[in-house]
Amino acid sequence: MATNPLAPDWLGLPDDANALARGLWPATLLRAPEGELVIGGVPASALAAEFGTPLYVVDETDARARAATLREAFEAEFARIGTTVHIYYAGKAFLSTEVARWMLAEGLNIDICSGGELAVALAAGTPPHRLGFHGNNKSLTEIDDACRLGVGTIVIDSPVEISRVAEAAARHGARQTVRLRVNSGVHAHTHDFLATAHEDQKFGVALEDAPALVARIRAEPSLRFLGLHCHIGSQIFGADGFAESASRLLAVHADLLAGGPVPEMNLGGGFGIAYTSADTPTPIRELAARLADIVAAECAARGIPVPVVAFEPGRAIIGPAGVTLYEVGTTKAVNLGGNTRLYVSVDGGMSDNARPALYGADYTVRLANRSSQTDPVLVRVAGKHCESGDIVVDADYLPGDVAPGDLVMVAATGAYCWSLSNNYNFVGRPAVVAVAGGIPRMLVRGETVADLLARDTGFSPAADPADTRPKSPKSPKSPKEPAR
Ligand SMILES: Cc1ncc(COP(=O)(O)O)c(C=O)c1O
Repeated sequence: MATNPLAPDWLGLPDDANALARGLWPATLLRAPEGELVIGGVPASALAAEFGTPLYVVDETDARARAATLREAFEAEFARIGTTVHIYYAGKAFLSTEVARWMLAEGLNIDICSGGELAVALAAGTPPHRLGFHGNNKSLTEIDDACRLGVGTIVIDSPVEISRVAEAAARHGARQTVRLRVNSGVHAHTHDFLATAHEDQKFGVALEDAPALVARIRAEPSLRFLGLHCHIGSQIFGADGFAESASRLLAVHADLLAGGPVPEMNLGGGFGIAYTSADTPTPIRELAARLADIVAAECAARGIPVPVVAFEPGRAIIGPAGVTLYEVGTTKAVNLGGNTRLYVSVDGGMSDNARPALYGADYTVRLANRSSQTDPVLVRVAGKHCESGDIVVDADYLPGDVAPGDLVMVAATGAYCWSLSNNYNFVGRPAVVAVAGGIPRMLVRGETVADLLARDTGFSPAADPADTRPKSPKSPKSPKEPAR
């Protein structure tokens, strides 16, 4: 068999379309001798039978191990250069109370960026001082709540937030610790980074404006300045982009030391993961070592003490630990100039994974309920939504006998899938299940059509808390009522 010319250059014809490439899948995932995929000791078919599909499945052991390994790697490498690190788990990647507890238990803090994420973190029992609060447009209520509750750090994202946070902290008799988010001018994605004088984006303030803004922060008695913050992008391989950004930040950090203490520097998140076998993320220990070396060298060159350094990874912790299980509904072969692409349509799509439609993200898929020795064919896994861009996996190979009723598993969907999920076409968000030691545990229940209808005031007037109209007998009939 030859590679299908319709396949992208990076995708080779596999010797075995049942094989699980190293580094792509959760640590406990294996193919059982009978051919079925088993995750956390639970067979894919058992998960589908108990919880339905689509289903997000998180390998708890793997997620926790990634959190612990990352923290330990950074702690060890930064201890080598004489400082400490704080690792914040970026909750935007995927947050539930249970996941927050895993992260806290593994020694991580939690980064949140809305009142909703704050509520989830608090519901998990997170001590507020272990939270970092982000956002380019935090509401006054969010700022007030954060100061009142004693959130550890608030990341000031724009000049107007200085007085907003200062006033809220003063109102609650608090001295609020804050960072200032700057644009280092480094914008990175995967292997490349772009370094400019100014970044044309909504987050943070220009690096050159930082000294004046830090002076304003320092002049507020209800604020305590912790240091600069910068996040240069997501899904970044290698350390060069972080290095350039750290160097630019430390130049300003050094100047700021003249006006008072600058105990920390936060270099954000963005560590890349493998979504396909073409992705080659930098191993975490190697990344930690490079970053520690860079920070040490830059501080030595400027003759300043090495600050405490904070990081905020999300994807690198939870992304590879999660998969999505779908059931195949239809297949359709499309002939394009003598070459065939098999469309495999599944029971979810852009409502549970918006990343392909949003960013053209690539993924990897495998047959989950069985293996097959049938020759591999090039497939495109499509969703069930009314958009031609509703693609889950743009290109991969599956055994050619993949058929309706089969289960397929998509790798590395643990980050930014559930958190970006939506109800397009009134499709409910799937459940999230954690697996460990052969036991599945629901983390978040899936949405039903009844959940969605309950918010429609034409069906359920109680859905409108502001609706004070008397509920007359003429109020709309439930569609469940038998027709007269
Ligand atoms: C400020 C900030 N920190 C951390 C992250 C986490 O990034 P990642 O999940 O790629 O590590 C993000 C992601 O958008 C972010 O905006």
